[in-house]
Amino acid sequence: MNLATNTLLLTGGASGIGLALAVRFLRAGSTVIAVGRRADKLAEAQQLHPALITRQCDVADAAERAELVRWATATYPGLNVLVNNAGIQNRVQLAAPGADWDHLRQEIVINVEAPIHLSTLLIPHLREQANAAIINVTSGLSFAPAAFAPIYSATKAALHSFTLSMRHQLQPTGIAVLEIVPPAVNTDLGGPGLHTFGVPVDDFADSVMARLAAGEEEVGYGTSEQARLASRAELDERFRLMNKR
Ligand SMILES: NC(=O)c1ccc[n+]([C@@H]2O[C@H](COP(=O)([O-])OP(=O)(O)OC[C@H]3O[C@@H](n4cnc5c(N)ncnc54)[C@H](OP(=O)(O)O)[C@@H]3O)[C@@H](O)[C@H]2O)c1
Repeated sequence: MNLATNTLLLTGGASGIGLALAVRFLRAGSTVIAVGRRADKLAEAQQLHPALITRQCDVADAAERAELVRWATATYPGLNVLVNNAGIQNRVQLAAPGADWDHLRQEIVINVEAPIHLSTLLIPHLREQANAAIINVTSGLSFAPAAFAPIYSATKAALHSFTLSMRHQLQPTGIAVLEIVPPAVNTDLGGPGLHTFGVPVDDFADSVMARLAAGEEEVGYGTSEQARLASRAELDERFRLMNKR
């Protein structure tokens, strides 16, 4: 992938992995539109990186997704890359009483429904662009789930599966479909302090960018690189070790 000549619509671009990728695409010469819900986080990111374009949107809302795509393609007709990075992670005890379905379903809506919908909304525009790509951010947990986050892990497995099918279907259109598979990365995912055991976000993002530039389609890092290449027996062992009581 050429890192220098793109106009990217990047969800979850004001923090964590999304911001780290946004900054690197900006430095390489691309234009980046960072999307998120929190106006203060978007403003903070824009202040630190003045070239960053920001747009407030809740990708959980189908009408907001449609309006985002309408605005982005009208304002930036050269938009050629969608990065489906926004995601949330909830720790869920399935046997706990009083589960609130409206809360539980948010992971499914944000982590799976939104990337699928944004992709389908943008495919007609992307197929007219040179060097078009859709980049989905999945997880090492797509391959072996963390039982403490059962819905999250299932959403990431679903997004990985969808990515493979979309790559196959879009091959004749010239739209590249790429996948970034993070391991645990030190971000605020799930809430501040829950991912401090993860790898530094800058090391992860540097490695991802180098491998995207080298033309790789599916990019992991450390433990997620092992997971994406593992055999079924290795994944079963990984599941056992990760979910030891
Ligand atoms: N950190 C890890 O260990 C890890 C591991 C594997 C995969 N990942 C994946 O990496 C991606 C980025 O996560 P991160 O680690 O960088 O955590 P993060 O800092 O919490 O980033 C998530 C971003 O998504 C945005 N977002 C969440 N819900 C949204 C919504 N409804 N509409 C618009 N934006 C929304 C958030 O902004 P607002 O809250 O302002 O909307 C935030 O900027 C996620 O898909 C995550 O699942 C992370």
